[in-house]
Amino acid sequence: MKVSEIIEQTGEEEAVLDALMQITKMTKTELYLAKEIDEEVIDSVLDIIEQYKGGTPLAYLLGKTYFCNEYFFINDKVLVPRQETEGLVLTAMEEVTKDMIRGVEEERQKGKYSVLDLCTGSGCVGISIALLHKSLNKDIHFNHSLKVTASDISKPAVLLARQNQKLHSVGNIEIIMSNLFDEIKGKFDLIVCNPPYVKTFEIGIEDKRILREPRIALDGGLDGLYFYRKILTESKKYLKKDGSIIFEIGNKQGHDVTQIAFENKFRKVEIRKDIANIDRICIVRQ
Ligand SMILES: C[S@@+](CC[C@H](N)C(=O)[O-])C[C@H]1O[C@@H](n2cnc3c(N)ncnc32)[C@H](O)[C@@H]1O
Repeated sequence: MKVSEIIEQTGEEEAVLDALMQITKMTKTELYLAKEIDEEVIDSVLDIIEQYKGGTPLAYLLGKTYFCNEYFFINDKVLVPRQETEGLVLTAMEEVTKDMIRGVEEERQKGKYSVLDLCTGSGCVGISIALLHKSLNKDIHFNHSLKVTASDISKPAVLLARQNQKLHSVGNIEIIMSNLFDEIKGKFDLIVCNPPYVKTFEIGIEDKRILREPRIALDGGLDGLYFYRKILTESKKYLKKDGSIIFEIGNKQGHDVTQIAFENKFRKVEIRKDIANIDRICIVRQ
């Protein structure tokens, strides 16, 4: 059987290609050029696609997913990283870059720029920030220094995030288990966070597939705002003087999160929409 025939039979182009690339380690082009795909491989792919069609996220079946141009190990104890969360990483990189530029202009060796990735799950956000920072430093031949602390309440998530840290050989990140700020020490230039933000009674209503993901990664309380309230109330102690917070937020949460930030005496709030014109990023400044 050729790749095109497997796709035709299953009606699942993207999932078939992802599964095949993962199993065979071949590129898309190599797969399309292959005259025949091995029968054993086809059986495995068909099995995966059947479970995928039954509602299991592909990342759980493959044990990996792609985020910010890198692979991350994934299992069913963590949220599958979403493409829209890449916006959180890119917004964080804007802040990190500003600090790098200040460092270059002033020709000073400032202390380490510190980032706290709260609710890290698979570690995809914090690790991507560390990786992008490393490659930026290399590109501009600079030696800006960054330290990431990533934390999660879930032990399996912390263990997986550590595996991802190893996979990407990033040394400047510490991954710890913590109920929000409970075990967090020190002050940060930047806090990034993609908290659980689905309203309790809306979990799985729009998309049944998310019911396969851990509830602890989704449930944002009755109004979906529990974590924003808690973090914005407690975070000032953990922020340096000019420190800021960047949240991923859910559709239509921009107004409410802005209110909560102002109630907690933050001075400036910016809401950014994603390409689907949905409230997605909230930047909070002191
Ligand atoms: C929406 S997921 C985000 C995961 C990852 N950062 C991402 O963007 O894919 C939220 C994460 O918050 C964690 N979490 C839930 N309650 C928490 C708490 N009280 N303290 C710390 N982490 C918590 C969950 O275990 C889950 O990994």
